[in-house]
Amino acid sequence: MSTLVNNQNKEFSTNDIILEVQDLSFSYSRKQTLVLENVSVKFFRNNLTVIAGPNGSGKTTLMKHFNGLLLPQQGEVVVFNKQVTKKNRGEIQKLVGLVFENPEEQIFFPKVYEDVAFGPKNMRLSWEEIQDRVENALEEVQITHLKDKVTFNLSFGEKKKVAFAGILAMRPKLIIFDEPTIGIDPWTKPRMIETIRSFTRKRTVVVITHDVDVMKIADRILLMKQGKIKGDFSTYEDFQQQELLNI
Ligand SMILES: Nc1ncnc2c1ncn2[C@@H]1O[C@H](COP(=O)(O)OP(=O)(O)OP(=O)(O)O)[C@@H](O)[C@H]1O
Ligand SMILES: [Mg+2]
Repeated sequence: MSTLVNNQNKEFSTNDIILEVQDLSFSYSRKQTLVLENVSVKFFRNNLTVIAGPNGSGKTTLMKHFNGLLLPQQGEVVVFNKQVTKKNRGEIQKLVGLVFENPEEQIFFPKVYEDVAFGPKNMRLSWEEIQDRVENALEEVQITHLKDKVTFNLSFGEKKKVAFAGILAMRPKLIIFDEPTIGIDPWTKPRMIETIRSFTRKRTVVVITHDVDVMKIADRILLMKQGKIKGDFSTYEDFQQQELLNI
């Protein structure tokens, strides 16, 4: 039986909770103060949620907990009803894709096609399926023309698109983007935002960003400050109003 839960003025069934963070705390070292402090938050199916907040507030650290790249020191993270643990994070990484802010952290192969194909190859799919996924992903990010290029020589924005395509090719059910529009030119940015928005037809998306253009198309905006979720807004206007009051 599913019960109803409330997120601002919208109601969701508990079946719609695809990611739940409970009382999560984390620090990178014993001496350091907490980077995440008792964070509890739920994310809902087919939603586009933005996480915004000042530099160093813990946004990237939080996102790295969503697929087990970092493991909770206190509290828990449950994705698609599975608790994220050291043991099952391999399985969870097939469902949850992270696209990092810096593409250098995500590109490992000398050629674009090879790099985008790496994820699906690892999933032991058939050669036809791999080709289909790679071509689709390259098309979605509008970089089919780069497929035979050497990754090392690409511009920053092109590398970002290759890293994006590599995650898309794995077809995760939940995609987390860290600053996807930084370094993307104004000619391709609208299409990229449209692509991200269109994912919510079949998938769930979380975007860490300060980009107003992305915030405006989000279903929900979370505000993070000093390792805590300080606000939960349904519209950019609500977010802006609250933030202006606090300045
Ligand atoms: N690998 C690490 N080792 C030690 N401290 C770290 C590490 N990564 C991040 N931190 C620290 O944790 C805090 C939160 O960093 P995090 O990268 O999560 O912030 P952020 O909100 O993503 O910031 P930004 O908007 O600049 O990307 C910062 O004080 C940072 O210096
Ligand atoms: Mg960050």
